[in-house]
Amino acid sequence: MKIAILGAAGGIGQSLSLLLKLQLPKNSELSLYDVSSVTPGIAIDLSHIPTSIDVHGFSGNDPALALKDADIVLITAGFARKPGMDRSDLFKLNASIIYTLMEQVAINSPQALIAIITNPVNTTVPIAAEVLKKEKVYNKNKLFGVTTLDVIRANTFVSALIDKTPEELNIPVIGGHSGVTILPLLSQINNGIKLNTTQIHDVTYCVQTAGTKVLEAKSGGGSATLSMAYAATSFCLSLVRALNGENHILEYAYVEGTGEYARFFSQPLILGKNGITEYLSIGILSEFEMCALNNMLDQLKYDIKIGEEFVK
Ligand SMILES: NC(=O)c1ccc[n+]([C@@H]2O[C@H](COP(=O)([O-])OP(=O)(O)OC[C@H]3O[C@@H](n4cnc5c(N)ncnc54)[C@H](O)[C@@H]3O)[C@@H](O)[C@H]2O)c1
Repeated sequence: MKIAILGAAGGIGQSLSLLLKLQLPKNSELSLYDVSSVTPGIAIDLSHIPTSIDVHGFSGNDPALALKDADIVLITAGFARKPGMDRSDLFKLNASIIYTLMEQVAINSPQALIAIITNPVNTTVPIAAEVLKKEKVYNKNKLFGVTTLDVIRANTFVSALIDKTPEELNIPVIGGHSGVTILPLLSQINNGIKLNTTQIHDVTYCVQTAGTKVLEAKSGGGSATLSMAYAATSFCLSLVRALNGENHILEYAYVEGTGEYARFFSQPLILGKNGITEYLSIGILSEFEMCALNNMLDQLKYDIKIGEEFVK
């Protein structure tokens, strides 16, 4: 199985490449691409790690070879936030990067499962969908915005309040991937755990602002890269298991679902060989969550619209 990483020389890209080199099933192929000229060297560096995963590195302006017949494409190419920026400020920088890369994905790996990490995810995923549509290869079951970081953050923050390890938790996070559009469903913590009102408000706020906290603490030296690389690895391994024939894999991602709340929405999904096999309901929401959902929708729909209009 061939996994292509676009943006592989970046903060997320390098850690993600390392984790996949260690964790992919034997005989997979990692195909690394970045505009940065260090990329072939990163591939050689990784290739000295003794696991049965082939690693190839490509740099320059043409990702075609890196993408050729990839089964999974992970996109982390683009600019990350600096302190004082919110994710929507990245739109001007990253929209055209995603547009151009998706044209190449459409030509070279139209059958691939595509996972977009590049921010603003709320907008880059609609851009990707519209480019694929234009190229007549769009399959909504195969395009994902990666929101796994929000889920692992919710698990981590809740575990600090209760007598459970983060590994025992799998908290649904729905909506989008920026500010108030991120909504952890703390009324649906597995094992029937209930938080009090203050805890619910605090954890929701912490999950929504966790990225900004990392950004500020790194003092301009980057945004969340290590936890994101872990999150993307975990999501990619679910895609790999699905492609290898495992059924009923539960994941959360930002996808074009049924359109009940917005055209693109992060929700629970079941994965199979051809991508999403089932779009699961977000379940019954508490009054607090219902209100937060209603309050986010204008923002989320706006983020989606500017992505759609960018391509038209
Ligand atoms: N989805 C999430 O939860 C999440 C979390 C954290 C960061 N992010 C986003 O991921 C993206 C990458 O973050 P980072 O910290 O790795 O940034 P980074 O600046 O360290 O790396 C980005 C890489 O993309 C490369 N690049 C730029 N344009 C390219 C192009 N046209 N083709 C190929 N490569 C190109 C750069 O050379 C660089 O190596 C950012 O947009 C960031 O906001 C998403």
